Amino acid sequence: MTLLDGKVAIVTGSARGIGRATAELLSQQGAKVLINDLDGDAAEQTANEISGDTLVFVGDLTREGVPDKLVQRVIDEWGQVDILVNNAGYTLDAPIHKMSDAWFQRMLDIHSIVPFRMCRAVAPHMREPAKEDAARGARYSARSSASPPSPARWATLGRRTTPRASPPWSG
Ligand SMILES: NC(=O)c1ccc[n+]([C@@H]2O[C@H](COP(=O)([O-])OP(=O)(O)OC[C@H]3O[C@@H](n4cnc5c(N)ncnc54)[C@H](O)[C@@H]3O)[C@@H](O)[C@H]2O)c1
Repeated sequence: MTLLDGKVAIVTGSARGIGRATAELLSQQGAKVLINDLDGDAAEQTANEISGDTLVFVGDLTREGVPDKLVQRVIDEWGQVDILVNNAGYTLDAPIHKMSDAWFQRMLDIHSIVPFRMCRAVAPHMREPAKEDAARGARYSARSSASPPSPARWATLGRRTTPRASPPWSG
């Protein structure tokens, strides 16, 4: 039994470098891992060299719709996603007076827009606990003659509240 048994992870840009090392670590801990990269050959090689369940999705995440397709591939194969590592990226470096709009935009795309789109694509699949809370709310109201708690109250139920220390001026 390892820490991430039964979990599913996506690591973008994981054919090499930090992404590959992250994918290896997640796999060692028991997670199934989707390997994504622009470079299909390197992605296949990485997936073959990692022991454990892997899936390869070759694609440029800056292209519209590709993040959604990647997540759908994971759901079709494994039915869940628990971990997202937004790793894909690169540095296009230049002194500011030589940095073109196109280069700067490419860095914004891969480091800001892509992570946003990936988070948006996985979010519905990571929100199952919220559905369980809603089901608990329905069970509560069926059992109790009292009104069920408001949504804001539900949000606080189950959280532990650490008592505040008395302020020094309270005597
Ligand atoms: N190495 C560093 O010192 C360092 C420092 C700070 C931040 N980072 C960031 O960490 C991340 C990983 O860095 P690394 O050094 O391992 O880089 P790397 O170049 O070794 O690996 C990045 C991988 O991302 C893939 N990739 C790039 N654009 C992609 C796209 N549009 N769609 C899918 N895959 C794409 C590349 O093909 C490559 O395999 C990057 O986001 C980088 O900006 C690295």
